[in-house]
Amino acid sequence: MKNSSWTRRDFIRLSSGAVAAGTSGKFTLLERKPLWASPRPVAASDRVRFASIGTGVRGCELLEASLRVPGAECVAVADLYDSRHAAAQETIKKNVPATRNYKEILDRKDVDAVFIAVTDHQHRKVFEDACAAGKDIYCEKPMSHTLEDGFRMQSAAERANRIVQVGSQRVSSILYAKAKEIYDSGRLGQVCSIEAYWDRNGESGAWVYPIPPDASEQTIDWKAFLDGAPPRPFDPVRFFRWRCFQDYGEGLAGDLFVHLISGIHFITGTDTVAQRAQSSGGLFRWKDGRDFPDLIQTFYDYPNFRVYVRCNLNNEGGEFIGFYGTKGTLVIRNTTLTYTPQDTRPQPEAYSIYGWPEQLRNEYLAKWHSDHSLPDPLEFKVDEGSEVFGVPKGYNDVSDHEANFFNAVRTRKKVVENEQFGNNAAIGCHLANYSYFKQTTAVWDAATKKIKS
Ligand SMILES: NC(=O)c1ccc[n+]([C@@H]2O[C@H](COP(=O)([O-])OP(=O)(O)OC[C@H]3O[C@@H](n4cnc5c(N)ncnc54)[C@H](O)[C@@H]3O)[C@@H](O)[C@H]2O)c1
Repeated sequence: MKNSSWTRRDFIRLSSGAVAAGTSGKFTLLERKPLWASPRPVAASDRVRFASIGTGVRGCELLEASLRVPGAECVAVADLYDSRHAAAQETIKKNVPATRNYKEILDRKDVDAVFIAVTDHQHRKVFEDACAAGKDIYCEKPMSHTLEDGFRMQSAAERANRIVQVGSQRVSSILYAKAKEIYDSGRLGQVCSIEAYWDRNGESGAWVYPIPPDASEQTIDWKAFLDGAPPRPFDPVRFFRWRCFQDYGEGLAGDLFVHLISGIHFITGTDTVAQRAQSSGGLFRWKDGRDFPDLIQTFYDYPNFRVYVRCNLNNEGGEFIGFYGTKGTLVIRNTTLTYTPQDTRPQPEAYSIYGWPEQLRNEYLAKWHSDHSLPDPLEFKVDEGSEVFGVPKGYNDVSDHEANFFNAVRTRKKVVENEQFGNNAAIGCHLANYSYFKQTTAVWDAATKKIKS
């Protein structure tokens, strides 16, 4: 049926061609946000004096990022390994007091806040002590080593009325803020499926870190490291590659799932825990004595969508989260975000009518066209393609995350990734590991705050 020189099909063909042609996308470079809540220079009285408890790899990264955050001043550091005192002092180019005993720092009245960047199995103890000492806390991810730890930490923070931020820094990233804006706008339609992975291929990705030549029982307080873990003779492999062992870490779930889960919770506005998780995986390659798999993949059931998360230490796949909606797809790949609309305009059935005789087919098409008026060519978005967003060169979401924390310390307003958020994300890791190790579906029982089979 024709009521103009163009048929509707012509429009659809033209339009789909344009959508396909446009998939390279319009590129937008996102702008950095100011790192301090107040536009004026930071007065000395606004300065937050903090200490880093744990100055290993992450502690030093946090210290380095803090140098870019106005009004944050490191005044002390603590670590169990003496060489890390020097590493921290070199990072901030300041000879701040350094100790093996973090309690000395908590006793200081001039310390407002602490970074907790110790091994995961020590998070809860240091966190509870910091709350009791009245310090605000930036606690590295995953918040908890065990389910019980997480709830104890949440209660300690609430009891002591502390500002707490957990360290999945993507939550403060300008890229994730844009993703959330698109998600919240409804442009994705109904999102039923989310997929995320973080795959790495190599020794560093598999935590096979070199052991420093000066590592010994003289330079490391091994007894303090074992606090909260089973006793064993000094073992530098366990000290430096602790992520490989259940006594101190949570494997890939605690190391990487937690970032992906935090990103998904943030973008979708989820403030609950997945109802069920089902994991599979295995230890295929890095058989070096570790007691975690090098591949784990987990299906999570949330009330409104399903999530698949994978970490594989046997392929360099990078970092990815995809949101699949009825109106569009949103993909975060490393530092790039792509929104691709789906063509949802009504179209006559083309496939199944192949099985109809010609006359019926023609009647169906004639009726379909008479029931669907032609779109106004001016309203027809023939140029609608993908939109791509990137971050400025050298952009660092850790400084943004720290700035959110230090601003909250001043304003006393809770941050997004607070103790409740951090606990929920960490429970996602515990569900994944529970299912993997027990070879069963992990079911979250919110009433008893326990995982059941
Ligand atoms: N947000 C991120 O992207 C990110 C990246 C890396 C690590 N992390 C997290 O940061 C934390 C530290 O990881 P890392 O890679 O720096 O490990 P690391 O082994 O390099 O450093 C951990 C340090 O903690 C110290 N430590 C342990 N218990 C202590 C105690 N009671 N008192 C003082 N120091 C103590 C150890 O001596 C060690 O030097 C972990 O929770 C990890 O998951 C987060």
